[in-house]
Amino acid sequence: MADAGQPLADRVAVVTGAARGIGRATALALGKSGAHVVAIDLDEAAVKPTADAVSALGRKGLALGADVGDLRSIDGMVRRIIDSFGRIDVLVNNAGVTRRAYVMDLTEEDWDRIMRVNGKGVFFCLQRVAREMIPRRSGVIVNIASIAGKGYAGASNVIYAGSKGAVISMTRMAALQLAPHNINVNAICPGTTVTALSDANLRTRAADEGVTVEEMARRRNAAIPLGRANEPEDIAALAVFLATPGARNITGQSFNVDGGIIFD
Ligand SMILES: NC(=O)c1ccc[n+]([C@@H]2O[C@H](COP(=O)([O-])OP(=O)(O)OC[C@H]3O[C@@H](n4cnc5c(N)ncnc54)[C@H](O)[C@@H]3O)[C@@H](O)[C@H]2O)c1
Repeated sequence: MADAGQPLADRVAVVTGAARGIGRATALALGKSGAHVVAIDLDEAAVKPTADAVSALGRKGLALGADVGDLRSIDGMVRRIIDSFGRIDVLVNNAGVTRRAYVMDLTEEDWDRIMRVNGKGVFFCLQRVAREMIPRRSGVIVNIASIAGKGYAGASNVIYAGSKGAVISMTRMAALQLAPHNINVNAICPGTTVTALSDANLRTRAADEGVTVEEMARRRNAAIPLGRANEPEDIAALAVFLATPGARNITGQSFNVDGGIIFD
């Protein structure tokens, strides 16, 4: 049982892309704050350990396989969550993809793959989950954008930057249109965060610049004012706060968690 004193006691939270990285850390942090957690990823087997870790905390943890780039898959996912829990209180739209590439090397395939998950996926998960939140006049949506969407020069590629700018813009307008229904929508813009995604970018960058991965990591961190990359838990902590009653009057905002790289 969740302790009734916990800020998210018995809330139902959904996290996409929860098999690893920021999504997994966020699912666990929500569980530690008292929430039941539905952990979504492409492959149910890959995300099951996240749900099991939430269950080990004494909350309900449910693993679901779903592709957030596919509307039928999103609708099936929402139906299964409502069948199991009856409601959704918190959505963390976290699933995202990229690859490090120079502007002139990007392809139509890159556009379709990145926009399908980072743009279409975020929008339709938000819309379909908001449809369940509106009748209850309550809900919190947290979109994981990126400082890439605010002009960060070290972003992995131009299409990715555009997809994250789209997330920031969608966060603002959705916040306005869902505010009358008492639904808060905010975005978190992580800087470099130590995950499989950033590791792949780091390796490509090191190869491009002809240095070791260790040297590339040193240079990357030296360019961060606080001198360190994020751990996934640094993003999870803000996602939890945005889901708590203390954040009830915060909406439409995009918060940087980046060690001081970007100020706007
Ligand atoms: N790591 C960073 O440095 C960094 C920086 C800024 C923003 N972000 C953003 O944070 C989010 C999480 O990134 P991460 O670093 O933890 O990535 P990651 O690659 O470690 O994990 C992403 C997860 O999303 C899942 N996923 C991918 N496509 C999916 C789909 N169509 N449907 C369902 N799940 C899908 C993957 O299977 C994976 O488990 C992304 O939106 C990313 O753009 C990451």
